[in-house]
Amino acid sequence: MFHDISADMLKVMRALEEQLERDQASLRSVTQDVGRCLSLLALSAPPGAFLELGSSGGYSSLWLSLAARAKGVKLTTVDLNEKKVALARENVARAGAADSVQVFHGDAFDFATRFEEIAFCFSDIEPPELNAKIYEIIVPRLVPGGWIVVDNVTSPRYQKDLLERAHSDPRVDCVRLPFPKGDLICRKC
Ligand SMILES: C[S@@+](CC[C@H](N)C(=O)[O-])C[C@H]1O[C@@H](n2cnc3c(N)ncnc32)[C@H](O)[C@@H]1O
Repeated sequence: MFHDISADMLKVMRALEEQLERDQASLRSVTQDVGRCLSLLALSAPPGAFLELGSSGGYSSLWLSLAARAKGVKLTTVDLNEKKVALARENVARAGAADSVQVFHGDAFDFATRFEEIAFCFSDIEPPELNAKIYEIIVPRLVPGGWIVVDNVTSPRYQKDLLERAHSDPRVDCVRLPFPKGDLICRKC
């Protein structure tokens, strides 16, 4: 999957990585390692919907598109900010991933309730504590073996709220991965 990424997609990915290096604040994309991890987890997901909440410029969407294409599913990604939606659409198109990614303008809380059989969800909205609310909407909708991944779980508030909640939640098995911002990955039992 990672050995045959098209030249067009690599070019868009590199441009977004360089933009992140120059300016951490504007797109707030995940790192390349997180993107690769998302893609591998999504590839291992059972049949069902692929969802991303918080597209920004589409960097994580591109990594997820690799798994979506390999599995013959279409990733639904949504962002509240119209400019980010336009940018993500442009990047997805330039990367040649429009066949496996649909970028929507809308609210994550609306889109999270639109699917009942979710195989994979990446929740990356802001402020980060909102992802704890998304967790409660998504977990009941995950198919057995499905994944929810939550980015940016290093804040003390997360330690108390979401991490404790997920660790004691009998519906999922979870672990926090020590990426720079911390990523919580949970698999539905
Ligand atoms: C950290 S960025 C996402 C980065 C992206 N996942 C990536 O790695 O390339 C968070 C995004 O969430 C969006 N956002 C914040 N609240 C939202 C909501 N309620 N619904 C949808 N998007 C939201 C912001 O506009 C912002 O683009």
